[in-house]
Parts: sequence; structure tokens; C-alpha cells
Amino acid sequence: MLPALGLYGAGMLLVRECTAEDVVALEQAMPTGVNDRYGKAFRRQQAGGSSYLVAVRDGVLAGFGEVLWDGCRMADVRSQYPNCPEFNGLSAFPAGQGIGTALIRAAEARAENQGFRMIGLGVAEDNPNAARLYLRLGYQARTRYVDSWSYVDDAGTKHDVDDPATFMVKDLTA
Ligand SMILES: CC(C)(COP(=O)(O)OP(=O)(O)OC[C@H]1O[C@@H](n2cnc3c(N)ncnc32)[C@H](O)[C@@H]1OP(=O)(O)O)[C@@H](O)C(=O)NCCC(=O)NCCS
Repeated sequence: MLPALGLYGAGMLLVRECTAEDVVALEQAMPTGVNDRYGKAFRRQQAGGSSYLVAVRDGVLAGFGEVLWDGCRMADVRSQYPNCPEFNGLSAFPAGQGIGTALIRAAEARAENQGFRMIGLGVAEDNPNAARLYLRLGYQARTRYVDSWSYVDDAGTKHDVDDPATFMVKDLTA
């Protein structure tokens, strides 16, 4: 059975499932307001639809990402990749210190532990640095699609966003 906590490096960085306390801390540090991004992900996890992973470095939250067990958030992509969870919404802070890599490794371990043979993630076409990292970690670019999402700004106005993106897939059995 997978341990609740994954330890990386010299024990200073760990990845674990998000708690209700983490949601409060994240919202305080990087507010999402009425969008309630952390709360929504946490509730999906509590309902069994995802694993919402957080990275903690020296006791401080340093990143997050959500394994969506049913696959890509966008239905057209999801239908093309059955039994392929998506690691969504990855963010690491500060960047460039191995935190994103640790989160991805932890997501892959969770997926393998659940019996999945592959995992995917979407990367925006204007994010070549992230795409390079994913390629290095064994992900292959598979399908171009439009990642549609929305947010509500401080004035209460809803904005719809369409981001050209690529779905990348890793074979966990290789
Ligand atoms: C993309 C991201 C999650 C990667 O996590 P990370 O902790 O910075 O990555 P690591 O330290 O494990 O690995 C470093 C690699 O990440 C990639 N990278 C992506 N964005 C980076 C950034 N802003 N700074 C440094 N490296 C970045 C590079 O390819 C780098 O490899 P290199 O040394 O060959 O250039 C993180 O940089 C981040 O949160 N960026 C902003 C949000 C974002 O783009 N999320 C991804 C959505 S698909």
C-alpha cells in the first residue's frame, strides 16, 4: 500500500494529499476568491473523483496539482483516452527547484497504485518550458485541443478562456 506521505530529496520536500487546513492556507496565500479553486479541488478529492496533491517544503506549501481519476477535464480529449487519469492544474513555487517534478512523480505513483497503465496532462501551447519538463519526464505529445475554462474577476464578471493546448501521455508500464 502506498504511504500517505511521499518523501523526496533529503526529507525536506514531501508530497501528500491536500487537507482542509491546506485549502485555507492556499486561499490566504494565493486568493482565488469566489472561484474557490482549492476548495473545489478538495471537495472533488473528498468525493473520490481526484487526488489533490500538495507539496510541502520545510513545512511550507510549495505546490499543488490534481489527479482527475476520470481523465482529461475536456470531454473530447477524455473520450480519446479511456483509463487515463489527468494530472491537472500543476503549480510549483518557487519554480525550478524540483517541486514540480516531485509532484508529477507522486501523481504517477498514485495512478500506478490505482492500477492505471497511463497518465496524461495538458500543456498550453504558450508554455514551452513546462512542455520540455514533461518530455524529459517521459510524456509524449499526443493530441492538440482547446482547453476551455472560466473565472470570475473581482468585479464579479465572468470570463471565458480558450487556451490552445496539447495533451501529453506517459506509459506507466514502460
Ligand atoms: C511548470 C512547473 C509546474 C514546473 O515545476 P518546477 O518545480 O518549476 O520544475 P522542476 O524544478 O521540477 O523542473 C525544472 C524544469 O521545469 C521547467 N520549467 C517550467 N517552467 C519553469 C520556470 N518558470 N522556471 C524554471 N523551470 C521551469 C523547465 O523545463 C525546467 O527544466 P530545465 O532546467 O531543463 O529548464 C512550474 O514551473 C510552475 O508552476 N510554473 C507556472 C505554472 C505552470 O506553468 N504550470 C504548468 C501548467 S501545464
